[in-house]
Amino acid sequence: MLEVDSLEKTFNSGTANEVHALQGASFELAEGSFMVVIGGNGSGKSTLLNAVAGSFIVDSGRITLDGHDITRWPEHRRARLIGRVFQDPYSGTAPDMTIGENLALAARRGLRRGLGWALASRVREDMRERVRSLNMGLENRLDTPIGSLSGGQRQALTLLMATWLRPRLLLLDEHTAALDPRSAQQVVELTARIIEEQRLTVLMVTHSMQQAVNLGDRLVMVHRGRILHDFTGARKHRLKTSDLLGLFDEVRRMEQLDEATAMMLKGLYV
Ligand SMILES: Nc1ncnc2c1ncn2[C@@H]1O[C@H](COP(=O)(O)OP(=O)(O)O)[C@@H](O)[C@H]1O
Ligand SMILES: [Mg+2]
Repeated sequence: MLEVDSLEKTFNSGTANEVHALQGASFELAEGSFMVVIGGNGSGKSTLLNAVAGSFIVDSGRITLDGHDITRWPEHRRARLIGRVFQDPYSGTAPDMTIGENLALAARRGLRRGLGWALASRVREDMRERVRSLNMGLENRLDTPIGSLSGGQRQALTLLMATWLRPRLLLLDEHTAALDPRSAQQVVELTARIIEEQRLTVLMVTHSMQQAVNLGDRLVMVHRGRILHDFTGARKHRLKTSDLLGLFDEVRRMEQLDEATAMMLKGLYV
């Protein structure tokens, strides 16, 4: 349902700050699959998700979603098919607006205009029900400004908004990384529950090795803007955190060797 083919993206091209962030990233994601993405800092994980979401247009390569070639679609058009949650609890919601107003923005996209009060009150009932399902006691606080809530509560609501209309694809970029351990756990459980209930297709970046082994049916490791490892089925299921640490070690050794090789060559040719 999602096909990512040979993506290339260079930032600050032709300057001293040039970064070749995507270097031929390719993968196919099946309908209903939940793929966890790991990789070192700066390996290109966020850039990969941003490329799919349309935060920028890739230099080359192709992205196909549900049979549509979305490679050149603007971000707002892709947003009808794609839900997202970022790391920053402050980025997904409008702080001065109430919980109800924020959720209404998410729900509105699915409503036709002028359907009247009967529907409005039904939406509000639906809203209360869904907020109740978070088990955070927020269902009686729909008129509270979002800004007064904790990071965990905000991420839970952002997740609810991102999945309100059952997106074709859900993108999560380290969405629990900024939370305290208890809130992170709460949001992880909520995430798993929503994904299972709605049978969503998901790409989730995480820094947590625990999440990486516990969640999803597939795990990829990104390195230098492409997929270095790809575990599915029983191989994914069997992975332990120690295996993942081993993969990170291997990458570190490769990098050191690269550096050593570069220095050696410099010695030879300078
Ligand atoms: N908008 C941008 N402008 C310039 N450089 C960027 C931008 N986004 C990402 N990069 C660079 O691309 C590389 C990959 O970044 P990123 O995808 O954010 O890594 P990760 O999420 O794996 O930590 C990094 O070197 C980063 O500095
Ligand atoms: Mg990132």
